[in-house]
Amino acid sequence: MTLPSTTEADAATLMQNAPDSRPAPGTKQRVLSGMQPSADSLHLGNYLGALVNWVRMQEEYDAVFFIPDLHAITVPQDPAELAHRTRVTAAQYIAGGVDVDKCTLFVQSQVPEHAQLAWVLNCITGFGEASRMTQFKDKSLRHGSDQASVGLFTYPILQAADILLYQPQGVPVGEDQRQHVELSRDLAIRFNSRFGETFTVPEPFIQKESAKIYDLQNPVGKMSKSAESPNGLINLLDDPKITAKRIKSAVTDAETEIRFDRENKPGVSNLLTIYSGISGLPVEKIVADYEGKMYGHLKVDLAELVTEHLAPIRERAHEFLADPAELDKLLAHGADKAREIASATLRDVYARVGFLPYAGTQGSL
Ligand code: TRP
Repeated sequence: MTLPSTTEADAATLMQNAPDSRPAPGTKQRVLSGMQPSADSLHLGNYLGALVNWVRMQEEYDAVFFIPDLHAITVPQDPAELAHRTRVTAAQYIAGGVDVDKCTLFVQSQVPEHAQLAWVLNCITGFGEASRMTQFKDKSLRHGSDQASVGLFTYPILQAADILLYQPQGVPVGEDQRQHVELSRDLAIRFNSRFGETFTVPEPFIQKESAKIYDLQNPVGKMSKSAESPNGLINLLDDPKITAKRIKSAVTDAETEIRFDRENKPGVSNLLTIYSGISGLPVEKIVADYEGKMYGHLKVDLAELVTEHLAPIRERAHEFLADPAELDKLLAHGADKAREIASATLRDVYARVGFLPYAGTQGSL
Protein backbone atom coordinates (compact mmCIF):
# COMPACT_ATOMS: atom_id res chain seq x y z
CA MET A 1 0.00 0.00 0.00
CA THR A 2 1.31 3.43 -0.81
CA LEU A 3 0.60 6.18 1.59
CA PRO A 4 -0.61 9.44 0.12
CA SER A 5 1.98 12.15 0.53
CA THR A 6 1.18 14.95 2.90
CA THR A 7 -0.36 17.81 1.04
CA GLU A 8 -0.87 21.37 2.00
CA ALA A 9 -4.52 20.57 2.63
CA ASP A 10 -3.62 17.85 5.18
CA ALA A 11 -1.30 20.21 6.92
CA ALA A 12 -4.02 22.83 7.02
CA THR A 13 -6.43 20.40 8.70
CA LEU A 14 -3.78 19.39 11.18
CA MET A 15 -3.37 22.97 12.22
CA GLN A 16 -6.94 24.04 12.19
CA ASN A 17 -6.82 25.02 15.81
CA ALA A 18 -3.42 26.64 15.78
CA PRO A 19 -3.68 30.34 16.54
CA ASP A 20 -2.21 32.47 13.79
CA SER A 21 1.21 33.84 14.68
CA ARG A 22 1.09 36.64 12.13
CA PRO A 23 0.07 40.15 13.10
CA ALA A 24 -3.57 40.63 12.12
CA PRO A 25 -4.11 42.70 8.97
CA GLY A 26 -4.54 46.37 9.70
CA THR A 27 -2.49 46.17 12.89
CA LYS A 28 1.01 47.49 13.37
CA GLN A 29 3.83 45.93 11.37
CA ARG A 30 6.16 43.76 13.38
CA VAL A 31 9.91 44.28 13.72
CA LEU A 32 12.40 42.06 15.51
CA SER A 33 15.99 42.50 16.59
CA GLY A 34 18.57 41.26 19.07
CA MET A 35 22.01 42.22 20.39
CA GLN A 36 24.41 39.68 21.84
CA PRO A 37 25.22 39.79 25.57
CA SER A 38 28.90 39.91 24.80
CA ALA A 39 30.19 42.55 27.22
CA ASP A 40 29.74 43.90 30.73
CA SER A 41 28.36 47.10 29.27
CA LEU A 42 26.84 48.25 26.01
CA HIS A 43 28.98 50.89 24.31
CA LEU A 44 27.93 54.11 22.65
CA GLY A 45 27.90 52.44 19.23
CA ASN A 46 25.34 49.88 20.44
CA TYR A 47 23.37 52.64 22.10
CA LEU A 48 23.21 55.19 19.27
CA GLY A 49 23.36 52.63 16.47
CA ALA A 50 20.72 50.23 17.75
CA LEU A 51 19.09 50.91 21.10
CA VAL A 52 17.92 54.47 20.40
CA ASN A 53 16.38 53.18 17.21
CA TRP A 54 14.62 50.34 19.02
CA VAL A 55 13.16 52.78 21.51
CA ARG A 56 11.81 54.85 18.65
CA MET A 57 10.44 51.80 16.86
CA GLN A 58 8.47 50.45 19.78
CA GLU A 59 6.11 53.42 19.37
CA GLU A 60 5.23 52.68 15.76
CA TYR A 61 5.71 48.96 15.45
CA ASP A 62 4.79 45.78 17.20
CA ALA A 63 8.40 45.36 18.33
CA VAL A 64 10.09 42.17 19.51
CA PHE A 65 13.56 42.50 21.09
CA PHE A 66 15.62 39.75 22.60
CA ILE A 67 19.01 38.81 23.98
CA PRO A 68 20.52 36.01 21.89
CA ASP A 69 22.29 33.99 24.57
CA LEU A 70 22.09 30.82 22.46
CA HIS A 71 24.18 32.64 19.88
CA ALA A 72 26.62 33.75 22.58
CA ILE A 73 27.68 30.16 23.32
CA THR A 74 28.79 29.56 19.73
CA VAL A 75 32.12 30.76 21.13
CA PRO A 76 33.36 29.70 24.58
CA GLN A 77 31.74 31.58 27.48
CA ASP A 78 32.31 31.56 31.19
CA PRO A 79 28.90 30.48 32.59
CA ALA A 80 28.74 32.96 35.48
CA GLU A 81 29.88 35.74 33.18
CA LEU A 82 27.29 34.85 30.54
CA ALA A 83 24.48 34.94 33.11
CA HIS A 84 25.73 38.29 34.42
CA ARG A 85 26.07 39.77 30.94
CA THR A 86 22.60 38.64 29.96
CA ARG A 87 21.12 40.52 32.93
CA VAL A 88 23.37 43.54 32.40
CA THR A 89 22.30 43.73 28.77
CA ALA A 90 18.60 43.46 29.65
CA ALA A 91 18.99 46.08 32.38
CA GLN A 92 20.56 48.52 29.92
CA TYR A 93 17.86 47.95 27.33
CA ILE A 94 15.18 48.85 29.84
CA ALA A 95 17.17 51.67 31.40
CA GLY A 96 17.82 53.02 27.89
CA GLY A 97 14.09 53.23 27.17
CA VAL A 98 12.90 49.82 25.99
CA ASP A 99 9.46 49.64 27.57
CA VAL A 100 8.33 46.11 28.40
CA ASP A 101 4.70 47.21 28.24
CA LYS A 102 5.05 48.53 24.71
CA CYS A 103 7.16 45.76 23.19
CA THR A 104 8.15 42.16 23.83
CA LEU A 105 11.55 41.79 25.49
CA PHE A 106 12.97 38.39 26.34
CA VAL A 107 16.00 36.11 26.61
CA GLN A 108 16.35 33.67 23.72
CA SER A 109 17.12 30.55 25.78
CA GLN A 110 13.84 31.00 27.67
CA VAL A 111 11.88 30.43 24.48
CA PRO A 112 12.72 26.84 23.44
CA GLU A 113 11.03 27.26 20.07
CA HIS A 114 14.17 29.03 18.77
CA ALA A 115 16.28 25.89 19.04
CA GLN A 116 13.40 23.75 17.79
CA LEU A 117 12.80 25.76 14.64
CA ALA A 118 16.54 26.06 14.05
CA TRP A 119 16.71 22.28 13.70
CA VAL A 120 14.03 22.21 11.01
CA LEU A 121 15.74 25.07 9.17
CA ASN A 122 19.12 23.31 9.44
CA CYS A 123 17.53 20.52 7.44
CA ILE A 124 16.52 22.75 4.53
CA THR A 125 19.80 24.70 4.38
CA GLY A 126 22.50 23.55 1.98
CA PHE A 127 25.95 22.87 3.36
CA GLY A 128 27.44 25.07 0.66
CA GLU A 129 24.91 27.78 1.36
CA ALA A 130 25.89 27.86 5.05
CA SER A 131 29.58 27.79 4.08
CA ARG A 132 29.20 31.04 2.17
CA MET A 133 28.30 33.05 5.28
CA THR A 134 31.12 35.55 5.59
CA GLN A 135 30.81 36.16 9.33
CA PHE A 136 31.45 32.47 9.98
CA LYS A 137 34.51 32.59 7.76
CA ASP A 138 35.87 35.63 9.62
CA LYS A 139 35.16 34.26 13.06
CA SER A 140 36.45 30.78 12.35
CA LEU A 141 39.65 32.26 10.95
CA ARG A 142 40.02 34.23 14.15
CA HIS A 143 39.43 31.19 16.36
CA GLY A 144 41.14 28.66 14.06
CA SER A 145 38.98 26.12 12.21
CA ASP A 146 39.64 23.37 14.79
CA GLN A 147 38.43 25.66 17.55
CA ALA A 148 35.39 26.89 15.66
CA SER A 149 32.28 24.99 16.78
CA VAL A 150 29.55 23.55 14.59
CA GLY A 151 27.28 25.97 16.46
CA LEU A 152 29.25 28.85 15.00
CA PHE A 153 28.76 27.32 11.56
CA THR A 154 24.98 27.09 11.98
CA TYR A 155 24.73 30.46 13.77
CA PRO A 156 22.98 32.17 10.82
CA ILE A 157 20.38 29.38 10.68
CA LEU A 158 19.55 29.90 14.36
CA GLN A 159 19.27 33.59 13.54
CA ALA A 160 16.84 32.74 10.74
CA ALA A 161 14.78 30.78 13.29
CA ASP A 162 14.82 33.80 15.66
CA ILE A 163 13.41 35.93 12.92
CA LEU A 164 10.94 33.62 11.19
CA LEU A 165 9.26 32.45 14.41
CA TYR A 166 7.80 35.92 14.90
CA GLN A 167 6.72 36.65 11.32
CA PRO A 168 8.22 40.16 11.33
CA GLN A 169 8.02 42.41 8.30
CA GLY A 170 11.30 44.12 9.21
CA VAL A 171 14.58 43.27 10.88
CA PRO A 172 16.53 46.37 11.98
CA VAL A 173 20.24 45.50 11.95
CA GLY A 174 23.62 46.86 10.95
CA GLU A 175 25.08 46.30 7.50
CA ASP A 176 27.18 43.42 8.88
CA GLN A 177 23.99 41.40 9.45
CA ARG A 178 22.52 41.89 5.98
CA GLN A 179 23.71 38.51 4.72
CA HIS A 180 22.05 36.73 7.65
CA VAL A 181 18.73 38.44 7.00
CA GLU A 182 19.05 37.49 3.32
CA LEU A 183 19.50 33.87 4.39
CA SER A 184 16.35 34.12 6.51
CA ARG A 185 14.49 35.38 3.46
CA ASP A 186 15.81 32.53 1.30
CA LEU A 187 14.82 29.95 3.92
CA ALA A 188 11.35 31.46 4.35
CA ILE A 189 10.76 31.41 0.60
CA ARG A 190 12.08 27.85 0.32
CA PHE A 191 10.00 26.54 3.21
CA ASN A 192 6.87 28.29 1.92
CA SER A 193 7.28 26.83 -1.54
CA ARG A 194 7.94 23.30 -0.27
CA PHE A 195 5.39 23.12 2.50
CA GLY A 196 2.90 25.92 1.83
CA GLU A 197 2.63 29.53 3.02
CA THR A 198 4.01 29.58 6.56
CA PHE A 199 6.48 32.39 7.02
CA THR A 200 6.42 36.10 6.38
CA VAL A 201 9.44 36.97 4.21
CA PRO A 202 11.28 39.65 6.26
CA GLU A 203 13.00 42.77 4.94
CA PRO A 204 16.32 43.96 6.34
CA PHE A 205 15.98 47.48 7.79
CA ILE A 206 19.61 48.52 7.57
CA GLN A 207 20.90 51.10 10.01
CA LYS A 208 22.06 54.32 8.37
CA GLU A 209 25.80 54.58 7.77
CA SER A 210 25.61 58.10 9.16
CA ALA A 211 24.59 56.75 12.58
CA LYS A 212 27.71 54.62 12.85
CA ILE A 213 29.97 55.41 15.78
CA TYR A 214 33.74 54.99 15.45
CA ASP A 215 36.52 54.32 17.92
CA LEU A 216 37.68 57.54 19.61
CA GLN A 217 41.34 56.56 19.31
CA ASN A 218 41.10 55.03 15.85
CA PRO A 219 38.21 56.85 14.17
CA VAL A 220 38.36 54.77 10.99
CA GLY A 221 37.46 51.57 12.87
CA LYS A 222 34.01 51.09 14.37
CA MET A 223 33.62 51.42 18.14
CA SER A 224 34.08 47.92 19.50
CA LYS A 225 34.89 46.33 22.81
CA SER A 226 37.59 44.27 21.10
CA ALA A 227 39.57 47.36 20.01
CA GLU A 228 43.25 47.53 20.91
CA SER A 229 42.88 50.31 23.43
CA PRO A 230 39.90 50.70 25.78
CA ASN A 231 40.36 54.47 25.52
CA GLY A 232 38.49 54.54 22.23
CA LEU A 233 35.38 53.14 23.86
CA ILE A 234 32.50 54.79 25.69
CA ASN A 235 30.61 52.32 27.84
CA LEU A 236 27.14 53.13 29.10
CA LEU A 237 28.00 51.86 32.56
CA ASP A 238 31.44 53.47 32.93
CA ASP A 239 32.19 56.05 35.56
CA PRO A 240 31.38 59.50 34.06
CA LYS A 241 34.93 60.66 34.83
CA ILE A 242 36.33 57.96 32.56
CA THR A 243 33.85 58.81 29.83
CA ALA A 244 34.68 62.51 29.99
CA LYS A 245 38.39 61.78 29.91
CA ARG A 246 38.08 59.53 26.88
CA ILE A 247 36.09 62.11 24.95
CA LYS A 248 38.56 64.84 25.81
CA SER A 249 41.48 62.76 24.59
CA ALA A 250 39.76 61.61 21.38
CA VAL A 251 42.02 61.63 18.33
CA THR A 252 41.30 64.53 15.95
CA ASP A 253 43.61 66.04 13.32
CA ALA A 254 46.19 68.77 12.84
CA GLU A 255 43.69 71.30 11.47
CA THR A 256 41.51 73.51 13.61
CA GLU A 257 38.27 73.77 11.66
CA ILE A 258 35.22 71.95 13.00
CA ARG A 259 33.41 70.46 10.02
CA PHE A 260 31.98 67.13 8.98
CA ASP A 261 34.29 65.29 6.57
CA ARG A 262 34.39 61.54 7.18
CA GLU A 263 37.26 61.01 4.68
CA ASN A 264 39.68 63.69 5.80
CA LYS A 265 38.55 64.41 9.33
CA PRO A 266 37.28 61.10 10.72
CA GLY A 267 37.91 62.01 14.38
CA VAL A 268 36.06 65.33 14.33
CA SER A 269 33.28 63.83 12.20
CA ASN A 270 32.82 61.06 14.75
CA LEU A 271 32.51 63.60 17.59
CA LEU A 272 29.91 65.46 15.54
CA THR A 273 27.97 62.23 14.92
CA ILE A 274 27.95 61.49 18.65
CA TYR A 275 26.90 65.05 19.44
CA SER A 276 24.07 64.82 16.94
CA GLY A 277 22.97 61.36 18.12
CA ILE A 278 22.75 62.44 21.74
CA SER A 279 21.34 65.94 21.27
CA GLY A 280 19.02 65.14 18.37
CA LEU A 281 20.37 68.22 16.54
CA PRO A 282 21.37 67.92 12.87
CA VAL A 283 25.13 67.90 12.27
CA GLU A 284 24.91 71.09 10.17
CA LYS A 285 23.42 73.00 13.09
CA ILE A 286 26.19 71.83 15.42
CA VAL A 287 28.86 72.77 12.87
CA ALA A 288 27.29 76.24 12.55
CA ASP A 289 27.19 76.66 16.35
CA TYR A 290 30.89 75.82 16.64
CA GLU A 291 32.11 78.03 13.83
CA GLY A 292 35.36 79.67 14.85
CA LYS A 293 35.65 77.59 18.02
CA MET A 294 38.38 75.11 18.84
CA TYR A 295 38.30 71.33 19.05
CA GLY A 296 38.73 71.67 22.81
CA HIS A 297 35.41 73.49 23.13
CA LEU A 298 33.59 70.82 21.23
CA LYS A 299 35.16 68.09 23.35
CA VAL A 300 34.39 69.75 26.67
CA ASP A 301 30.76 70.33 25.70
CA LEU A 302 30.39 66.87 24.26
CA ALA A 303 31.84 65.26 27.39
CA GLU A 304 29.24 67.07 29.47
CA LEU A 305 26.41 66.25 27.09
CA VAL A 306 27.27 62.54 26.99
CA THR A 307 27.86 62.09 30.71
CA GLU A 308 24.65 63.92 31.59
CA HIS A 309 22.69 61.90 29.09
CA LEU A 310 24.08 58.59 30.29
CA ALA A 311 23.84 59.29 34.04
CA PRO A 312 20.15 58.36 34.48
CA ILE A 313 20.53 55.31 32.24
CA ARG A 314 23.49 54.11 34.25
CA GLU A 315 21.66 54.71 37.51
CA ARG A 316 18.54 52.87 36.40
CA ALA A 317 20.57 49.93 35.08
CA HIS A 318 22.34 49.67 38.43
CA GLU A 319 18.99 49.70 40.23
CA PHE A 320 17.87 46.73 38.16
CA LEU A 321 21.10 44.91 38.81
CA ALA A 322 20.66 45.45 42.52
CA ASP A 323 17.32 43.65 42.26
CA PRO A 324 17.87 40.82 39.79
CA ALA A 325 14.67 39.04 40.93
CA GLU A 326 12.57 41.91 39.61
CA LEU A 327 14.50 41.92 36.34
CA ASP A 328 14.13 38.16 35.99
CA LYS A 329 10.38 38.54 36.50
CA LEU A 330 10.12 41.10 33.70
CA LEU A 331 12.11 38.82 31.43
CA ALA A 332 9.97 35.79 32.29
CA HIS A 333 6.90 37.80 31.43
CA GLY A 334 8.52 38.76 28.12
CA ALA A 335 9.34 35.12 27.40
CA ASP A 336 5.71 34.17 28.02
CA LYS A 337 4.54 36.83 25.59
CA ALA A 338 7.11 35.71 23.02
CA ARG A 339 6.11 32.06 23.36
CA GLU A 340 2.54 32.83 22.45
CA ILE A 341 3.73 33.88 19.00
CA ALA A 342 6.63 31.44 18.68
CA SER A 343 4.69 28.35 19.66
CA ALA A 344 1.94 29.11 17.15
CA THR A 345 4.51 29.34 14.34
CA LEU A 346 6.32 26.21 15.47
CA ARG A 347 3.11 24.20 15.68
CA ASP A 348 2.31 25.22 12.13
CA VAL A 349 5.82 24.28 10.96
CA TYR A 350 5.78 20.89 12.71
CA ALA A 351 2.44 20.00 11.19
CA ARG A 352 3.59 21.04 7.73
CA VAL A 353 6.77 18.96 7.79
CA GLY A 354 4.73 15.93 8.87
CA PHE A 355 5.39 15.66 12.62
CA LEU A 356 2.50 14.12 14.52
CA PRO A 357 0.52 16.38 16.83
CA TYR A 358 1.48 15.88 20.47
CA ALA A 359 -1.42 14.63 22.56
CA GLY A 360 0.34 14.27 25.91
CA THR A 361 0.14 16.26 29.09
CA GLN A 362 3.61 17.81 29.25
CA GLY A 363 2.58 21.24 28.09
CA SER A 364 3.53 22.54 24.67
CA LEU A 365 5.57 20.68 22.07
N1 TRP B 1 23.70 38.18 14.88
C1 TRP B 1 23.21 39.39 15.48
C2 TRP B 1 24.41 40.26 15.86
O1 TRP B 1 25.46 39.74 16.15
C3 TRP B 1 22.39 39.11 16.73
C4 TRP B 1 21.14 38.39 16.38
C5 TRP B 1 20.83 37.09 16.68
C6 TRP B 1 20.03 38.94 15.68
N2 TRP B 1 19.61 36.79 16.20
C7 TRP B 1 19.08 37.88 15.59
C8 TRP B 1 19.77 40.20 15.14
C9 TRP B 1 17.88 38.07 14.93
C10 TRP B 1 18.55 40.38 14.48
C11 TRP B 1 17.62 39.31 14.37
O2 TRP B 1 24.28 41.45 15.89
